[in-house]
Amino acid sequence: MLEKDRIFNFEKIDVEYVAHILSTDKYDQELFEFANEVREKYVGKQVHIRGIIEFSNYCVQNCLYCGLRRDNKKLTRYRMSLQEIIDRAKLIASFGIKTVVLQSGEDFSYTTDDISYLIREIKKLNVAITLSLGERSFEEYKVWKELGADRYLMRHETANPQLYAALHPNDSFEIRKSHLFYLKKLGYETGAGSMVGLPGQTPYDLALDIAFVKELDADMIGIGPFIPHPDTPLANEKGGDLKTCLKMIALARIAVPTANIPATTALGTINPFGRELGLKWGANVIMPNMTPNPYRPNYSLYPGKICVFENDTACANCVKQIIKRAGLIVSDDYGYRKKEVVIA
Ligand code: 5AD
Ligand code: SF4
Ligand code: FES
Repeated sequence: MLEKDRIFNFEKIDVEYVAHILSTDKYDQELFEFANEVREKYVGKQVHIRGIIEFSNYCVQNCLYCGLRRDNKKLTRYRMSLQEIIDRAKLIASFGIKTVVLQSGEDFSYTTDDISYLIREIKKLNVAITLSLGERSFEEYKVWKELGADRYLMRHETANPQLYAALHPNDSFEIRKSHLFYLKKLGYETGAGSMVGLPGQTPYDLALDIAFVKELDADMIGIGPFIPHPDTPLANEKGGDLKTCLKMIALARIAVPTANIPATTALGTINPFGRELGLKWGANVIMPNMTPNPYRPNYSLYPGKICVFENDTACANCVKQIIKRAGLIVSDDYGYRKKEVVIA
């Protein structure tokens, strides 16, 4: 039997026990059902839609797993103009979507003032703004928060410091942690999260990821499979599997019951029902790709990324069907993190 009281309602996660759950399929069904119960109690049936604009695929970083890494010379790079980004945000708002996510590689050609301008203009549309720009300066985080940015997404990628260092030239888990805790301190709804199936990653490492999102009290937790990209040093590695990803989403829900947890695009990429299953077993957010063509195919973090050959607004409607197929409800509010009140 799954010992629920060892993974629920704890200040600190029992890492050994979580690693044990991840190492066997004995408790899978119980785990999924419990995660679904916790979701229902703490966040209800509402699923929040966040429209994402991937506005630049330039990146100064060289993360070993990522197709946007600096050394990938095969990628056609693009940058959207500020006006193009604002026009897309307007389109997102016109679909009734209440959150605009601005995501890019680490691209410092967008200055502090450029991002400030985007925040001011997009805030006029009565939407919540999520920034996902990688590691920027602490001063910039502060300026953008004061201008009205609501959330910041920056996955911690892996909470094993050795593995983190091996995958991220010139970066460390300590640094990543300091950014995330500072964002939290500034009052951003802060998103962390990790990849599943990284080379050498163990069940214990995955349990550390759950312990980390708990320690941070992450407001958002993005979990998806690692998918090897042919134009990176990890081309010949194995990727993450659906079952383990779903178990990690379930564990994240149980560990941080009120967190907003997306059913990620990478999960939908490794399995056609991936996102639907994610929503069934703990996730409560879905992020339609709203990046305009012709740019969209070039934001290739990993190969086979879904949604890239579609008409460039199709995902806005498609995600509603996925929510309904999972037996859940399309939310029409901003989808801020719920306070810890159990829904009767
Ligand atoms: N497979 C899966 N996810 C990836 N990401 C980057 N490269 C890959 C890959 N090869 C994820 C990282 C990053 C997010 C934007 O995309 O977790 O934080
Ligand atoms: Fe750049 Fe992010 Fe890709 Fe790393 S994961 S190379 S920071 S886009
Ligand atoms: Fe993109 Fe379905 S969500 S096509």
